Amino acid sequence: MKSYNVAVIGGDGTGPEVVREAIKVLDAACPKFGFKLNYTPYDLGGERYLRTNEALPASVVTELRQFPVILLGAIGHPDVKPGVLEKGILLRLRFELEQYINLRPVKLYDDRFCPLRDKGPSDIDFVVVRENNEGLYTGSGGFVFKGTPHEIAVQESINTRRGVERCLRYAFEIARKRNKDKKLTLCGKTNVLTFAFDLWERAFHEVGAAEFPDIKRDYAHVDATTMWFVKNPEWFDVIVTDNMFGDIITDLGAMIQGGMGIAAGGNINPSGTSMFEPIGGSAPKYTNQGVINPLAAICAGQMLLDFLGESAAAKAIETAVIKTTREKIKSLAAGKMGYSTSQVGDLVAAAL
Ligand code: IPM
Ligand code: MN
Repeated sequence: MKSYNVAVIGGDGTGPEVVREAIKVLDAACPKFGFKLNYTPYDLGGERYLRTNEALPASVVTELRQFPVILLGAIGHPDVKPGVLEKGILLRLRFELEQYINLRPVKLYDDRFCPLRDKGPSDIDFVVVRENNEGLYTGSGGFVFKGTPHEIAVQESINTRRGVERCLRYAFEIARKRNKDKKLTLCGKTNVLTFAFDLWERAFHEVGAAEFPDIKRDYAHVDATTMWFVKNPEWFDVIVTDNMFGDIITDLGAMIQGGMGIAAGGNINPSGTSMFEPIGGSAPKYTNQGVINPLAAICAGQMLLDFLGESAAAKAIETAVIKTTREKIKSLAAGKMGYSTSQVGDLVAAAL
């Protein structure tokens, strides 16, 4: 039987609880679709950092490289200074494993969960392809005269032709594969960031014209993009953007699809180790109360299967999630689902 190795990082706060439900659903899918998943847990996160003063040993990164996929719960601990775990674990894995795509589907499963009036599931169904290795996230820059009245802080946005092109190609491919409007929208800020987005825009049209003539090319400034998300989300099919803008617009995207309880993402290296996660945080105040919504983690599991090539199983999980959210779940918010965390996992597994 086909089998795949999955590294599991439960992480902090409610991370382990939601990952448990994702695994429950994955394990329900396995026998139906004739493959096996072998899980290897990794103890990473705030607790380990506080215990050992080390966020992510190099030896663990080496081990993780051997896996095709990682399932991640959440990283973030109230007793650890902001930035330490984010940079030390999450961003380091994205960078060292060269997960240069952050794929974030924005899909509404039921009218009841949408905060926009008169918008439904047929209006909110697009994908954001966020560049995940460059931009403002590289740590390039520094201080001059730090701590003096003359201090200067520089934070540079790095945009390489190679990094931008590989991201664009991935996004064009997704637009082709989705076969919806066959449209790719570049989200940028060409009117102000006249170097970074000049490169993006030229690469966008050159790659598009030469290799993807079947895909329509559209452009929106990032500020306008946030406006259209609220006013006309049905205009979007696939959006491609840089790391920082992608971070920001996908939080808004998560809200219009029903909130962090349902939003999942994939950190993808198409030819290496990819990592799938619910995009919300560790929600420390809800830890171990059985109230957190595991659907985002379950959807991360769905994306993981899709990456492994088990697309029929992935589709079946999505169908089960849709059925469960439509027929059972009262609200996607923590504590208001009408069911406990593990009951929601049971419902989706049963719907499979
Ligand atoms: C995300 C998060 C991270 C990011 C943080 C935790 C570093 O907000 O995955 O969107 O900014 O990428
Ligand atoms: Mn974010």
